[in-house]
Amino acid sequence: MKSWQQFWRQLFLFGLLALVVTGCGTNELSALKPQGPVAAMQYDLMMLSSSIMIGVFIVVMLILTYVLIRYRKRRGQEGIPKQVEGSHTLEILWTVIPFLLLIIMAVPTVKTNFTLADEYSNKEALQVKVTAHQFWWEFEYPDLGVATAQDLVLPVGKKVQFTVSSADVVHSFWIPALGGKMDTTPGLENKIWLQADRTGTFYGKCAELCGASHALMDFKVEVMEQADFDKWAQKMKAVQSAEPVKATAIAAEGQAIFEKSCMGCHAVAGKGGKLGPNLTNFADRMRVAGIKPNEPKYLEEWLKDPQKMKPGNNMPNLNLSDDQVNALVDYLYTLSVKDEKKQ
Ligand code: CUA
Repeated sequence: MKSWQQFWRQLFLFGLLALVVTGCGTNELSALKPQGPVAAMQYDLMMLSSSIMIGVFIVVMLILTYVLIRYRKRRGQEGIPKQVEGSHTLEILWTVIPFLLLIIMAVPTVKTNFTLADEYSNKEALQVKVTAHQFWWEFEYPDLGVATAQDLVLPVGKKVQFTVSSADVVHSFWIPALGGKMDTTPGLENKIWLQADRTGTFYGKCAELCGASHALMDFKVEVMEQADFDKWAQKMKAVQSAEPVKATAIAAEGQAIFEKSCMGCHAVAGKGGKLGPNLTNFADRMRVAGIKPNEPKYLEEWLKDPQKMKPGNNMPNLNLSDDQVNALVDYLYTLSVKDEKKQ
């Protein structure tokens, strides 16, 4: 193939790739579309350092191109061009310019670091304790007496102070649109504060390779008006003492199976173990296992073989019969604190 043909083909492919890659950022999952003050500060720093780097790259490439053309060997030319080794002017120039550029990057970076660190002592902030597990997320609101998993619920426009840790290996807590990330380390409590400036749903990720299902360790962030958040928290707290509604006989059967086989690890309304995700408001969740839409068919798939959907997770296969699975599914969809159930 002629080399110019190859060139245009490659250019076309790169152009296509650039178009595809520009589609990557959504408001829900992109550090390049900040939806809160922390993400905005981090975005500004990224833009500052990126523009300086791009500037340096362009200048170096221009000089390189000029030198290649200007000083190439010409016909009839004797010897090599005049050498500049040991030139004090040049030495000083290429020491001072990078130094200045680094200062331009360092000052706002250090300033932002202090701004973010200052807020650690913020007592006004909503406190949320995050515990990472292979491969799911636990969220506790110590001041509200509420615990949930996989779907993090936050009020809009309010600082949230996260205290993050891990129950097993090192994970990393990251909500790209709101800021982060922060390592979760067993036996250690790290702090990070974030704030969402608009309501809606955002996506969170585990950003540290943590095992077979690392890539599937997602969570959701539901940001709502303060009044709605208060209502949610109140209801979550209220169900702690109330028995869940068993609408049908089959759901009641499911509850019996749950209490016998699942409660050792999973809590509902304050009763049960903490090894698995808290299921108090399971029916309100957006996802099953953090990755599939919260629909009965996926829940069935999960209950029948948890290892298939999320390899390496700690949920054992209980070898449930189809009837048992159906009963459990019916029961789990009664677990809601919302007025309208999301199915
Ligand atoms: Cu948890 Cu990656």
